[in-house]
Amino acid sequence: MKNYFFALLSMASAMLQSQNLLFIPDTLSGTSFSLTMHRDSVQFFPGKKSNTYAFNTNKYLGPTLFFKQGTTVSITVNNQVGDTTTVHWHGVHVPSKWDGGPHTPILPNSTWSPTFKVLDHAATYWYHPHMHMKTAIQAIKGAAGLIIVRDEQEAALNLPRRYGIDDFPLVVQCQQYDSLNQAMPRGMRDSTILVNGTRNPYVNLPAQVIRLRLLNASGERSFNFGLSGNKSFYQIASDGGLLDNANLSTRLRLSPGERAEILVNLNGLSAQTLSLMCYGSELPMGVQGGPTMPMPPGSPPMNSPLNGIDYSMLKINVVAQSVNPITVIPTSLVANALYPINSAIASRKISFTADSVMVMDGPFYFNDSSFNMMRIDYRIPLNSTEIWTLINRTMVAHPFHLHDAQFFLIQRNGIPVSAEEKGRKDVVLVLPDDSVSFITKFEDYADDQIPYMFHCHILMHEDDGMMGQFIVSSNGVGLTKQRLTYADFLIYPNPSENSLHIKTTNKIIQKAEVYNLLGQSLLIINAMALSEFDLDISELQSGSYIVKLSHNEGTQTFNFIKK
Ligand code: C2O
Ligand code: CU
Ligand code: CU
Repeated sequence: MKNYFFALLSMASAMLQSQNLLFIPDTLSGTSFSLTMHRDSVQFFPGKKSNTYAFNTNKYLGPTLFFKQGTTVSITVNNQVGDTTTVHWHGVHVPSKWDGGPHTPILPNSTWSPTFKVLDHAATYWYHPHMHMKTAIQAIKGAAGLIIVRDEQEAALNLPRRYGIDDFPLVVQCQQYDSLNQAMPRGMRDSTILVNGTRNPYVNLPAQVIRLRLLNASGERSFNFGLSGNKSFYQIASDGGLLDNANLSTRLRLSPGERAEILVNLNGLSAQTLSLMCYGSELPMGVQGGPTMPMPPGSPPMNSPLNGIDYSMLKINVVAQSVNPITVIPTSLVANALYPINSAIASRKISFTADSVMVMDGPFYFNDSSFNMMRIDYRIPLNSTEIWTLINRTMVAHPFHLHDAQFFLIQRNGIPVSAEEKGRKDVVLVLPDDSVSFITKFEDYADDQIPYMFHCHILMHEDDGMMGQFIVSSNGVGLTKQRLTYADFLIYPNPSENSLHIKTTNKIIQKAEVYNLLGQSLLIINAMALSEFDLDISELQSGSYIVKLSHNEGTQTFNFIKK
């Protein structure tokens, strides 16, 4: 009855609302990329201004970056949002110092310049901020974009890959806006669907085989994607690469952070319309977006009107074919080679916990402990193959995300996973009471200073501490007292208790400023003209800090740890 009411309500309001042409983000390609994160605003609700974060010329989201496997890319990220941020390349295998996690903040008005070789398989990845305790608010304001990796294997297949013609990015978000039309990082009453930042979107798709790249960039909601009329489609890729075969299906569940690519055959459907749907009524209890949990009488309204119902997210008008249309769907794609189970040298168990089993909105923990930036949870020797088992002891589903490596799922509750979860993954939704195992290998990059993260991709859970960190170490030792060398600078010892020795071979340092990871300035030393000095840090509390050095050629920032 209730679902029926809401379905009617949303049908009625959909008729009143005008449809907007789906925005297709612009693209950047090549080997050098420049991103500027800035503040902007958008009228998602006509006449009302919502403040946003965006990249480059966009007012919301950022350009789609095209990376080619095997090339070395250099990116400059300029922070113009007036707050400290980071940019993380979600799913992309990069050295930890370029991963954009919470240990590599970009201060306001500063630039961060990661560079790495693209080792990943052709698939759809994304980028978004990862500031400790601020990921949700910065990401849902719109500071996110897609990364499309191309490789030769994918290029050899007869697949649609003309961006905006037969290959479409769909960044899907469900957001909650407060009474002043501002995005709420902790909203459990999220009911505004945005696709590529467009509200009430429609798209014109040619009558041929179309590729859709789906990203769930929501803060918390899971989507059960499907087409109206239960029209079937083929899933061809998961988070980190193509599947072995095109998998015929009518549903595809994506939790926050997950991606998939699907082919839809629109041959012969010219002039027809259909919808990209969320079949929320079929999501299990405990998944945000599924049926509302029974709440004690008198509790405040905590759940979204979209929970547990089926709704349209994107209207599709089928139009005339493009030139050189692709009209057939390849059946076999690539051969994914799983890591042999017996090559695993370690296994780890992570239980998802809360203060009590009744907790619905957090905080949630891994193995009963909350994230601590100063604690390295695991030290993993470079080149180890490991099996991780995730056990959910809470009443809500959590999308678990691993940085650094793609993994292959081995089992869900003792049963091999279904075809849609067989490929390379970096996020897996773990339902209440589920036990899920994956196998992965930590290769190529080791760093004894800067850890990688693993966390729940429900951003409010992540910000609340459902996160851990690991060091991939070439010597198996982990965080040790050692010199941090950056091109022209030497900063040691690090970690240190009382003072940092700062030395440069070819620059004249004029000013040193120490910030905490929230970007607050704690210490300034002005009016210097030195190439070597000791910075007194004895008064700082133990923790991670950033020192910003202004010198005759510019400014640079470095991380250090106060013991
Ligand atoms: Cu998409 Cu650690 O994040
Ligand atoms: Cu990530
Ligand atoms: Cu969670």
